[in-house]
Amino acid sequence: MNKIVALILFSVVSMYTKAQTVIPIETKDFAMVFKTDDQKRLWNIYFGKPLSNKSDYNKIDLQYNFQNANAGMYNSIYTPSGTWNISEPALRLKHADGNLSTDLQLLNYNSTQDGAVTLTSIVLTDPLYELNVTLFFKVWKELNVVEQWTEITNNEDGAITLYKKASANLYFTNKDFYLTHFQGEYLREMQPVEQKLSQGVKVVESKLGTRAMLLGSPNFILSFEDQARATEGNVLLGQLAWSGNYKLEFDIDSHQNLRFIAGINPYESSYTLQSGDSFKTPSLIYTLSNKGTDLASNQLQSWAKQYRVLDGQGDRLTLLNNWEATYFDFNEKKLSRLFEDTNELGLDLFLLDDGWFGNEHPRNNDDAGLGDWQVNRKKLPHGIGYLIKEADKNDVKFGIWIEPEMVNPSSDLFENKPEWVIKQPERPAKLYRNQMVLDMTNPEVQDFIFEIVDDLFTSNPKLSFIKWDCNAVIYNAYSEYLNQNDIDQTHLYINYVNGLYSVLERIRAKHPKVPMMLCSGGGGRVDYELLKYFTEFWPSDNTDPVERIFIQWNTSFFYPAITMDSHVTNWGTQPIKLKTDVASMGKLGFDIDLSHMSDNDIEFVKGAVKNYNSFKSIVLHGDQYRLASPYENPYASIINVNKDKSQAVMFNYLSSNRFMEQMTKRPIRLKGLNTNKNYTLKEVNLYPGTTSVIDHTKVYSGEFLMTVGINPVINTKRTSVVLLINETNK
Ligand code: DGJ
Repeated sequence: MNKIVALILFSVVSMYTKAQTVIPIETKDFAMVFKTDDQKRLWNIYFGKPLSNKSDYNKIDLQYNFQNANAGMYNSIYTPSGTWNISEPALRLKHADGNLSTDLQLLNYNSTQDGAVTLTSIVLTDPLYELNVTLFFKVWKELNVVEQWTEITNNEDGAITLYKKASANLYFTNKDFYLTHFQGEYLREMQPVEQKLSQGVKVVESKLGTRAMLLGSPNFILSFEDQARATEGNVLLGQLAWSGNYKLEFDIDSHQNLRFIAGINPYESSYTLQSGDSFKTPSLIYTLSNKGTDLASNQLQSWAKQYRVLDGQGDRLTLLNNWEATYFDFNEKKLSRLFEDTNELGLDLFLLDDGWFGNEHPRNNDDAGLGDWQVNRKKLPHGIGYLIKEADKNDVKFGIWIEPEMVNPSSDLFENKPEWVIKQPERPAKLYRNQMVLDMTNPEVQDFIFEIVDDLFTSNPKLSFIKWDCNAVIYNAYSEYLNQNDIDQTHLYINYVNGLYSVLERIRAKHPKVPMMLCSGGGGRVDYELLKYFTEFWPSDNTDPVERIFIQWNTSFFYPAITMDSHVTNWGTQPIKLKTDVASMGKLGFDIDLSHMSDNDIEFVKGAVKNYNSFKSIVLHGDQYRLASPYENPYASIINVNKDKSQAVMFNYLSSNRFMEQMTKRPIRLKGLNTNKNYTLKEVNLYPGTTSVIDHTKVYSGEFLMTVGINPVINTKRTSVVLLINETNK
């Protein structure tokens, strides 16, 4: 650390430790302030604009009434339980001596700075027990992004049991609170539900074990004072970065303040922590904005690209996937034709999907073979290496699908290693898509999964991509490994996820850069912990373009376009142009069979791939702004602008079929451009034989485009319009 920074931080620390301690956590536009009482308990006293005079923070709590004799603690920085607190706790545990009470006092705190990041750690301790709780706040000040997690350390004489161990416990004193959370279903991922929070606890959670997002997602938008708006108001956009069961509790207390507790779902997850050990919770990641969701989402996307997503500033490969083109029914000849198609369309990579493995139990359907990762000799007698060479001859890279955490009962793996499978020993098996989940708590299973991936890469050094699927939820949660090793079954859900992370850590240590796609029969599994290891994810199996407009719209609040795999498939009866234009707003791919397409459609796709390659750096690396919401208009519009604001791509889609609604009746205001620059607009991705109604010779100022706007002329004959916006000197 730079010595001057260290000195300043030291003086700040000592300034506050004299009397009551005040600890501000500041981002560019927001501050959260914590303050001790005379018993060194630490309270959350402020969330709002940073104050220029830091000593003013000390006076804030005098202006509020945070006490409630009935409830005990409302604004604790990490609400303990078992003493005089009777509101919802962040921490519930049993001490080594069996006592259920915990109290927490400030022991010390520390702040360090490293480049753009400030890390503050606050150590709390129980005055009666050798138990420390350290709260971590990692702040990217300029981006208003905070990553928060907690570490609980047991220095007692024996093991303690953690019942509830939240990642974060925040407190907000604004007037009103609106929560948007995202419910889901297979094929209906990321459906927003917005509601005004009223007194009581609103819970958003998952108990599904693996693909935790199938019914709901750990992403949320909190809007303060008013409903979430695009360009106005204070909002917090957040997510619990945990790939298993999560629980988000929004608790309006009797003073109408909001207590927010987020963490691993305590459901069947009591955790025994041995003496001397620490438990690290997952991170709550959030961004704060005083200019609505546009800025919030912009900040989160920038943070993700710069600091979180694997290769977040790198390139991405366009691809042809054979899943919907062939399903399980393929052979070398069919694949060779698809390699040619990949090349003909101008795509970078061919992705071989499910069905390439299993011999005793061939994977010709989804009811057999999962777990037997040997090449199916009948379909592919010359193996994967041969396919990679054939693809190479067509100047196409090669990628492959795996689902390594899963097993079909009809497989060699299940027959040989039944003890590796999560299932109740005395109850009938319950299958999800004919499959079961392997026990990732077992180190042997972790080795097995590591080796599947490692073998694929080491025996095929030119393998360029992996699609990692995960289709089943955990039913009948029981681990034979935990049983054999005398570990409580309530460790299963947590150790599963940590087992997965540790396998991914090993894979990335050996194969750091190869792109990998997260898939889960749709958007059932993505978060910012997994995106440390994956370059991208599959938001939904639903590729009907109109449905996708909505799914991508909502997903893009939290994830940048560079992570969002968007494929053109046979779903939906809409024209190929709408499908391709919708897919072009993310990372473009195709899952189509050229032999079923008209010449015009093929010509269109070839042109669209060329166009995509010409503007993909703007989509992948630029700043994204939502211009027109499909929830408020019969159309949707989104723009990506490059860093120096000299180029942009604007995507416009018709999203409603209601009579007389089917056109843009007024201009759409652009965002993100330079007011003082001049621009031209050129429509691209025109279907063969059609011409554009947009005059590409007209020059518009940035001011005009952002104040008056332009009409892309969307109607039933022009259901999607892609505009390239270029700076001009004219
Ligand atoms: C579910 C995925 O979402 C699909 O894209 C495909 O890979 C299938 N699994 C394969 O079983």
